[in-house]
Amino acid sequence: MKNTIEYIYSIEGITPDQLKGFFVGWPNPPSPEVHLELLKKSDVVVLAVDKKTKKVVGFITAITDHVLAAYIPLLEVLPDYQKQQIGKRLTQEMLTLLKEFYMVDLLCDADLQSFYEQLGMRKATGMFIRNYDKQSGTK
Ligand SMILES: CC(C)(COP(=O)(O)OP(=O)(O)OC[C@H]1O[C@@H](n2cnc3c(N)ncnc32)[C@H](O)[C@@H]1OP(=O)(O)O)[C@@H](O)C(=O)NCCC(=O)NCCS
Repeated sequence: MKNTIEYIYSIEGITPDQLKGFFVGWPNPPSPEVHLELLKKSDVVVLAVDKKTKKVVGFITAITDHVLAAYIPLLEVLPDYQKQQIGKRLTQEMLTLLKEFYMVDLLCDADLQSFYEQLGMRKATGMFIRNYDKQSGTK
């Protein structure tokens, strides 16, 4: 399945229909339309697209001040496509795109730290707020 996946850096031509199935386990997930909007408004995106079905099967986003700092808020691979190195490739591509920045940060659960460590990232302590009533988007 691996060589049926292509990696793209733009959402040009992507429709909400191609973005179904993400945000697994989120009680109040963004709709595919809101997903497309957040991709559009992110500074950097990498999408994994199944060339056969044209569906997006994985994505990673980054936001940045374009001077020092970049933050990676979201990375997800659809369940049927996991464990095929797609998440690793998406993260590698993103880290390459962000390599000129002084700081590249993300938050993750402890069990994912080894996933990011193999990609050259280091453990840190973080802080966060989650407004769960806004989980599907601000509108
Ligand atoms: C985390 C996630 C993106 C990984 O994507 P994936 O395509 O299944 O991962 P890959 O196949 O690229 O894994 C690459 C390597 O990381 C390892 N890995 C994958 N998931 C891991 C995990 N949860 N914990 C530790 N290692 C993991 C794999 O074993 C693999 O190792 P290998 O190269 O030695 O074979 C995917 O499981 C996912 O979408 N999870 C739900 C959303 C999520 O948790 N996103 C991250 C938010 S911080």
